[in-house]
Amino acid sequence: MNTNDRNAGSADVEIDGRDYARACTVAELPPGRSRMLYFDEERQIALFNVDGELHAVTNICPHQHSPVIVDGMIEDCTVTCPLHGWAYDLRSGRALGGGARLKTFDVRVVEGVIWVEVPGEEEPTWFRGM
Ligand code: FES
Repeated sequence: MNTNDRNAGSADVEIDGRDYARACTVAELPPGRSRMLYFDEERQIALFNVDGELHAVTNICPHQHSPVIVDGMIEDCTVTCPLHGWAYDLRSGRALGGGARLKTFDVRVVEGVIWVEVPGEEEPTWFRGM
């Protein structure tokens, strides 16, 4: 079961030349939970803890450009969009049985805090992932 928390994301630190935003502590995202980081309408990230593995993908489903991935069903490291059932591999972002793709983002854990790569502003992340 997914329980979702939502918070506003912001660029907080630079790691290896890239900007990362503080998501939450490891304790605040136990296995089976998800969290959404909102930067703006086109830049939202869905962060998942799948059996201790952290995955960050765009929250916007490319099927109908809907910001709902964070509410998806998780099974075997895939997320299924709650609107029409498109399923995506959380490791690669690729749709199962289709050409669509969720953009993936790097996740780091530093001293018990989860940091997520900040999406660039050059183009919508949902579009870039296709
Ligand atoms: S909006 Fe995600 S499958 Fe339709």
